[in-house]
Formats: sequence, structure tokens, C-alpha cells
Amino acid sequence: MRLLVTGAAGFIGSHFVRLALHRAPGTKVGVIDALRYSGNRSTMADFANQTSFYQGAIQDKAFVDQTFSEFRPTHVVNFAAESHNDRSLVDNSDFVQTNTYGTQVLLEAARQHRLERILQVSTDEVYGSIDAGQFTEHSPIQPNTPYSASKAGGDLLCRAHWVSYKTPVIVTRGGNTFGPYHYPEKLIPFFLVRLLQGKKVPLYGEGSQVREWIHVRDHSAGIWTVLESGLPGEVYNVGDTNERTNLDVVRILLDELGLGLDRVKFIPDPRKGAHDARYSMTTTKVRGLGWSPREDFEEELRVTAKWFADNEEWWRPIVQNPGYESFVKKFYGPSLGEDL
Ligand code: TYD
Repeated sequence: MRLLVTGAAGFIGSHFVRLALHRAPGTKVGVIDALRYSGNRSTMADFANQTSFYQGAIQDKAFVDQTFSEFRPTHVVNFAAESHNDRSLVDNSDFVQTNTYGTQVLLEAARQHRLERILQVSTDEVYGSIDAGQFTEHSPIQPNTPYSASKAGGDLLCRAHWVSYKTPVIVTRGGNTFGPYHYPEKLIPFFLVRLLQGKKVPLYGEGSQVREWIHVRDHSAGIWTVLESGLPGEVYNVGDTNERTNLDVVRILLDELGLGLDRVKFIPDPRKGAHDARYSMTTTKVRGLGWSPREDFEEELRVTAKWFADNEEWWRPIVQNPGYESFVKKFYGPSLGEDL
């Protein structure tokens, strides 16, 4: 196998590269990243010597063709994505460019270069919100935010490529993922870096929304199993059974850092109608391939909190970046006021 991983300087992509190098020693691994705001060279430091790096965007057709010609992958796993719902509510053009059009560029290249496998890493958010019960791989696609709609667009192109051209593509839909090296804009890493800086954290509404959490190592291992054993043209949900309200998650983080609920500021929900109340999926299909999650949610959440406390040199340059500061100020300024 000659494996090309896109979005390798990002959160789940970088963990997946580590896992691939460990599971299949000797595999030639190429990595692509555009190194936009959330892709960080330092995240790839420990595997830089074992991989070939190509800097560029998946929506850049000339770059993708050139990289495929040079590296000659047999397998591609696409993690490259704009992934933050709140940013997509402010401006979503980059989301459509990367998540939808970028997927189309990769699929075309996979077809032209006759790849053995292309795996599209997607999200449970394409199903929308579910108040009770669980989504299966056959549930309707009903995305509620521009982010999830742009991912759904990518998923549907994968389906169409399989039906139209038999491009050997597989889609995984993952749950909310957490762990080290997570760019500090999502709930868990954003709250951790704020708490570690002595600041308050903005919890939307009453913190009552439910997310189904999966540790990044489990998520990566699920994707690896699907890459090895999944069937082309199929979709596999990759999730764990850890359903928690946002407030429950925050309580554990506060407890681990020895802090109280006074550090939480409940703010009016900035997502308004687009805030999905609950995500939950069945994972019988991927378990049938021999994968099951291993990590304990609460224990690993505490390990993640400790990782952020011990690795300030990783996140400090990120939060001091003017672009990072200006988004936080613009998005949270009005509701956080003097607690910004
Ligand atoms: P997030 O980590 O952005 O992931 P997603 O939107 O993909 O589920 O958000 C997880 C939950 O946390 C979601 O219900 C929104 C909530 N949230 C807050 O309450 N405050 C915040 O500052 C952020 C970023 C999220």
C-alpha cells in the first residue's frame, strides 16, 4: 500500500498517520496539508521524517494531480476539511470549497489515477439532529448547518462516484472526537485553553445539548479497519456510546483542573435554530468488521485535560495568533463582555 493522507497536520488526520505508521510499518506514507489556520506543522513533528509532505489544498486540481503523479498512492484517506460549525455560520464559502468541491477533485483524481481505495472521512452531523433513538447508515441526510451541508455534499458525491463510475470510495461518519492536538476552537480544547489561561468559558444556552463522544485513537482505529476491510460504495458510522450533555463534559474538565462552576458563563445560544440538540448513531456495521472502541470516556477526558495543561508550548502560539484572537473577539465578544 502507498497511503496518502490529506489534512495530516490537523487533529484526526495526524493521529491517523501515527496509527498507520504503527499498524503497518514499512508502508509508504505521503501527507497533504494546506497549513491553513488549523493545520499546524508542529503537530506533524514526530512523524515528519517518516512521511513525504506535500503542501497544498485539495480543491487545487493542479496540485492534487501533481501530487498523485509524484507520490503514486494506491490508497487515499481524506481528512482535509473546514470543520467548525460556528465559523461556518459566520462565512461558509471556504466550507463548500474544501468539503464539497475538494472532495470532488479528489474523487476525480482517484478515478483518473486508478486508486485501489479512497476513504472519505465524514461526520454524523450530515444526518442532522435526533431527539430519541439512533441514526443508522440508512437514515436520511438532513444537515442543519452550512458546515454539515458542505460535508453532506462531499458524501453524496462519493455515492454518485461509486454508482456512476465504480470509483472505489468508502465513507465513514464519525462522532464528536476529542483528544490531544485538537485545535482550540471546539468545545473541549477551546474550554481547556481558556480555563488554563484563567478565563471564563462560554457555554451555549443551558449546556443541555447531547453529543456522542469518541476518543481520537478509537476514531482513527475505526477508520483504519474500514480502510482495510470495508466494502467500496458503503458508509460506516464510527462512534462510541458516550452520550453526554455539554454541561456534563464541562463539569469533568472543571473537576480535573480543580475549578468550580463559577468559571462557566452561560451565554445566549449563538447557533440559534441551527444548534443540533443531540447526535447518536448505531455502529453495528463497523463492529462487524472487527473494530470496537477501547478508550474510557471520563478517564481519557481527564488525560486530555492534563495533556493541554502539560503542552502549553503547542497551543500558546495558536491562541496568540492575531487571526485566532480576532475570531474569538468577534464571535464571543458581545456575549462574554468583560469576561472575554
Ligand atoms: P463543537 O465542539 O463545536 O462541535 P459540534 O458543533 O460539531 O458538535 O460543539 C460541541 C457542543 O458544544 C455544541 O453543542 C456547541 C457547544 N459549545 C458551547 O457551548 N460553547 C462553545 O464555545 C463551543 C465551541 C461549543
